[in-house]
Amino acid sequence: MRKVSVNTNVPYDILIERGLIKKTGELIKSVSSAAKVCVITDSNVGAIYGETVIDSLRQSGFDAALFTFEAGEKNKRLDTISAMYSYMADFNMSRKDLVVALGGGVTGDMAGFAAATYMRGINFVQIPTSLLAQVDSSVGGKTGVDIDQGKNLVGAFHQPILVIIDPDTLDTLSDYYLSDGMGEVIKYGCIKDKKLFVTLENNNAYDIIEEIVFTCVSIKRDVVERDEKESGERMLLNFGHTLGHSLEKIYNFEGLSHGQAVAVGMVMITQAGEKAGLTEKDSSERIKVLCEKYDLPTSDTASVKEIADICSSDKKASNGSVNLVLLKRIGESFIKPTELGKLEEFIS
Ligand SMILES: NC(=O)c1ccc[n+]([C@@H]2O[C@H](COP(=O)([O-])OP(=O)(O)OC[C@H]3O[C@@H](n4cnc5c(N)ncnc54)[C@H](O)[C@@H]3O)[C@@H](O)[C@H]2O)c1
Ligand SMILES: [Zn+2]
Repeated sequence: MRKVSVNTNVPYDILIERGLIKKTGELIKSVSSAAKVCVITDSNVGAIYGETVIDSLRQSGFDAALFTFEAGEKNKRLDTISAMYSYMADFNMSRKDLVVALGGGVTGDMAGFAAATYMRGINFVQIPTSLLAQVDSSVGGKTGVDIDQGKNLVGAFHQPILVIIDPDTLDTLSDYYLSDGMGEVIKYGCIKDKKLFVTLENNNAYDIIEEIVFTCVSIKRDVVERDEKESGERMLLNFGHTLGHSLEKIYNFEGLSHGQAVAVGMVMITQAGEKAGLTEKDSSERIKVLCEKYDLPTSDTASVKEIADICSSDKKASNGSVNLVLLKRIGESFIKPTELGKLEEFIS
């Protein structure tokens, strides 16, 4: 078993091993004295893994119940959280009891937020089952929901007490979401780890996914530990995201998946960095080829003006400037504050 220990204000471990989900009960027993466990999952993941997790918890002596919501980002909203609160209260959960998030990033964000707020905060455990959730959203303690005015606008920082990653769960994830998660995996190689980038170039990531997940989680752990509440270094994780987020918005979060948009954003911003003489030549071409290898798009028909305009109204933009994440070279990144008025020219 691989283990990544996270030393945030409440320290916890991330455990990675094939088949680990079957040991959920004993793993949780070793970190929690809860009597009741509410497993929160979505309709897709619950149908495949719900019973395994509940059985394992019951075998370890927990009083376990399963709350299922309809899968999809459109349900990542307060109505669903409200239904969770009622379910947990009807299940007579106390402050000592536990929430388990079983699913992708949507499930993790919502179950984490419900745990952060139910009775002013109870413990929770993440069992991420999508590639994106395993390498990104389950680490770092950000939880929350979308509101009509924007994505992830309401939330809380709440660290899990344990993260259980079973790479075997990826066997049932669709190719679309596997590829989507690879956008973030490639990002880690770009910003922090040339060796990872080269490994992705020379191998089929899916054949060595356990090692890849471990590497990505370790990188995110390092960054989050140094910058728990997102002020400095954590911004580097936004590589490809500033332009990517604009693209997602242009298509109303329906045309491009998050990982696809990030892929286009990474290539665009690195091309701009090369043009400005800030990034080693040919970096963007290598990122492009790698993204294509994992079925991710690398360009888009939206105009540079449109992208820059949306970016200017984005929440990450403040005081008339935006913090662009650029590469010095593959594996090395830095932040370049850029005036919004100069953004279009910079990326054109
Ligand atoms: N908290 C953070 O730091 C953070 C970071 C990045 C993204 N996010 C959030 O994560 C969400 C996206 O996560 P996501 O892509 O995992 O979305 P998701 O949770 O909707 O999962 C994607 C799809 O895959 C299905 N699925 C998940 N695991 C499966 C499995 N093992 N087998 C079969 N089907 C499976 C889900 O049912 C869903 O249909 C967004 O809401 C985003 O805001 C949060
Ligand atoms: Zn992302």
